[in-house]
Amino acid sequence: MAVARHVAIIMDGNGRWAQERGLPRMAGHAEGRKAMKRIVRASGEIGLEVLSVYAFSSENWARPQAEVDALMALFEQATREELPELQEQNVQARVSGRLHELPPGPRQSLLDMAEQTKHNTGLILNVACNYGGQAEIVDAAQKLARRCADGELKPEEIDRDLFARSLYQPDLPPVDLLIRPGGEMRVSNFLLWEIAYAEIYVTPVLWPDFQREHLEAALAAFEKRERRFGKAPGQT
Ligand code: FPP
Repeated sequence: MAVARHVAIIMDGNGRWAQERGLPRMAGHAEGRKAMKRIVRASGEIGLEVLSVYAFSSENWARPQAEVDALMALFEQATREELPELQEQNVQARVSGRLHELPPGPRQSLLDMAEQTKHNTGLILNVACNYGGQAEIVDAAQKLARRCADGELKPEEIDRDLFARSLYQPDLPPVDLLIRPGGEMRVSNFLLWEIAYAEIYVTPVLWPDFQREHLEAALAAFEKRERRFGKAPGQT
């Protein structure tokens, strides 16, 4: 039976959740924050090693400015307010994405969250913020190209392992299970390299409604899947 070590979630459906109730989109994001808190706690209790969550994509800047500003304020406030609970739960928070492009407030609070939890030994919570999978691959390519230009590395020495070690979180295992609430059948530029062999689980449940039992259902479905990594059916 395969057990998932690394679960990644595209936290989608906040806007629709709010719309269905005649509320502003931000009410959906505020509820999405609560769902994230629930699922981080549940992931730790279940014993997952890594939970990656997509908080803000590099394409989300195209949303109305008022929504972008409110999301940035939410990230800043939530990371500060949730820090004591992350500590209490022994969660090691990390942040992935082009943080230097974020406004100073949320950038600093995300960095503080990572810095202040870095010695924790429980669940690793990888928060993707201003993150794009293609941008991550470009950043890794630039890092390696710079080392080649400096004469430190030969182009032919670049292989899959070295490339993987040049990504934002070089020490994390690959994603086993990618969960997408909200029903869309898309990957949306999330962890493109890391999901190469991930199982994908899509549920119509909107992210603000997502409960521990939905996570458990996804993990149970994962355990029933036959992961082949390119091999023939049944081949060991
Ligand atoms: C996508 O739903 C969701 C987001 C762009 C924001 C996700 C952010 C949170 C859940 C808050 C997390 C908090 C921290 C501290 C990281 P959508 O607006 O695209 O929904 P829709 O598809 O229904 O419109």
